[in-house]
Amino acid sequence: MKTTLMISKWISLSFVLAFAACGGVAPDGAALAVEKGCVACHGEKGGAIAPIYPNLNGQYETYLRLQLVAYKSGKRVNAIMNGMAKDLSAEDIAALAAHYGK
Ligand code: HEC
Repeated sequence: MKTTLMISKWISLSFVLAFAACGGVAPDGAALAVEKGCVACHGEKGGAIAPIYPNLNGQYETYLRLQLVAYKSGKRVNAIMNGMAKDLSAEDIAALAAHYGK
């Protein structure tokens, strides 16, 4: 009886933890931009560090999201950005576009 109770408690705790780990919490775009290295070229707020890199601030969120989707799929071709977008999840892309876009 006691064991059954403990097992059922353990199971419900695992569900709570699994939910928290699997996107129960939306990724933070600003932190993700640092983690993924975007800030190295596009800056923390989207003001590029050099004229050879595009500014992302001032662009619409939807535009940025669609560009990242296109880089990921290879529809838009750029050696740097195809590599950067390759491993981004749909949630990452949405969070990064929301962070940099307006
Ligand atoms: C090594 C420098 C570098 C890094 C790091 C980098 N980018 Fe880029 N990014 C570029 C360059 C160069 C372009 C222009 C590419 C082209 O001509 O298509 C670009 C283009 C873009 C565009 C399209 C902008 C437009 O006006 O169409 C978006 C959106 C973007 N980057 C987002 C990101 C995100 C998000 C990250 C991090 C996951 C990132 N970039 C990391 C250099 C970089």
